[in-house]
Amino acid sequence: QELQLNLEQIEKGGYDHFMMKEIYEQPNVIKDTYRGRLNANKGIVQMAGIEDNIEKFLNAERILIVACGTSWHAGLVAEYVIEEFARIPVEVEYASEFRYRNPIINKKDVVIAISQSGETADTMAAIKLAKENGAFVFGVCNVVGSSISRESHAGAYTHAGPEIGVASTKAFTTQITVLTMLALRLAKAKGTLSNSDYHRYLMELEIIPEKVKEVLSTNDITKEIALKFKDSTNCLYLGRGYNFPVALEGALKLKEISYIHAEGYPAAEMKHGPIALIDEQMPVIVIAPKQGHYDKIVSNIQEIKSRSGKIIAVVTKGDTQVRELSDYVIEIPETSDALSPLITTIPLQLLSYHIAVLRGCNVDQPRNLAKSVTVE
Ligand code: G6P
Repeated sequence: QELQLNLEQIEKGGYDHFMMKEIYEQPNVIKDTYRGRLNANKGIVQMAGIEDNIEKFLNAERILIVACGTSWHAGLVAEYVIEEFARIPVEVEYASEFRYRNPIINKKDVVIAISQSGETADTMAAIKLAKENGAFVFGVCNVVGSSISRESHAGAYTHAGPEIGVASTKAFTTQITVLTMLALRLAKAKGTLSNSDYHRYLMELEIIPEKVKEVLSTNDITKEIALKFKDSTNCLYLGRGYNFPVALEGALKLKEISYIHAEGYPAAEMKHGPIALIDEQMPVIVIAPKQGHYDKIVSNIQEIKSRSGKIIAVVTKGDTQVRELSDYVIEIPETSDALSPLITTIPLQLLSYHIAVLRGCNVDQPRNLAKSVTVE
C-alpha cells in the first residue's frame, strides 16, 4: 500500500492533487495541441482532419455542436468564435437533449462532437443520430482511439494528455484551442477575416501559453480570496460575450468540487433574476477584461456594489476603474476578446480548487461524479 501511495505521489508530479497538476500543465498542453498545426509566421493553421474535409465545412449551412458538461461550455465558446471569424451559423446543444427531441438534421449540416473522454453515452448517441440523418460528424476528443473518435467521420484530437481529476481543466482549454484553430482555418478559406486580423489572431494564439503561465502566478492571490469565501453557501459568476461561457464553467467548477451552490449568468441577465439574490453575503465573480463590453460590465458591477454584494473581479493588468469598485481583483495579461477565455478561465479554476481544498473536499474525486459518464 505504501508503494501505491508513493506511486500516486510521483504521478502527481509534486502537486497535492491531480487537478492542480493539470491546471499547471495548461501552458504546455495548449502548445502541444497547436504544435505542427499552427505557424503564425507563415500564416498557417491546419489540421489534417479539416484539410481532408474542408469542402464539407465550407458547404455547411450550419454547424451543430453537441457535448456535455465542460465540453458543452467549450462548445459555447466555439459558437461565438466560429460565428465571429468564419460567419457560419452555429448551434450548441446538450447531447442529452439533442438525442431525444427529434432535432432537424440536414445532409449539409456539420456536427461537431466535443468530448474529453470520447466515451460519454449521450454524446455518442447524438452523433449516431446525426450520422443516420446524413450529417458529417467531426469529433474533438482527447482520448485517442476512444469510441466517439472512432464513430466520427473525421476529427482533431486535443493533446491534453491524461486528465485524471474529475473536474475538467486542461481538456477545456485545449478544446478551445482546437476549435479556435478550426474557426481561423475556415475564416482563411472563406475570407471572412481581414488579412491583418487573421495574422494577429494567429500570433496571439501562439503566445497564449506564455500568458497562461503568467496568470498561473496569481495563484497566491486566488488562495487568499478563497480563504475569505470558503464558507459561502452561494456564489454568482458573471461574464459577457466570449466570457459568458467562462462564467458558466467557473460556476460548474465550484459546484463540482466544493459543493457550494454557484450559478453562471450573462452579466446583463442579472437584472432578470439573480440580482434579487445579492446581499452583503453574496460573492459575485465578474469576468471584466478591458476588451469587449467593458463599459457595460462596469455598470453591472455598479449594480452589484449598490446592493452590497462582494465583488471579485478578473481584470486586465493595470485596470483602475473596476478595481475601485471591487473587493478583490485578479489581474490577467491583455489579450484579444475572442481568445480571452483561454486566459480568464484559469483564475476561476484556481479559485474553486483552493476553496475545495480549504473545505476539506476530495478535489480529484468529488462525491457523486464520474470522470466519464458511459451510461445514461
Ligand atoms: C462528466 C465529467 C465532466 C465532463 C463531462 C463530459 O460529467 O465529470 O468533467 O465535462 O462528463 O465529458 P466528456 O468526456 O464527454 O468531455
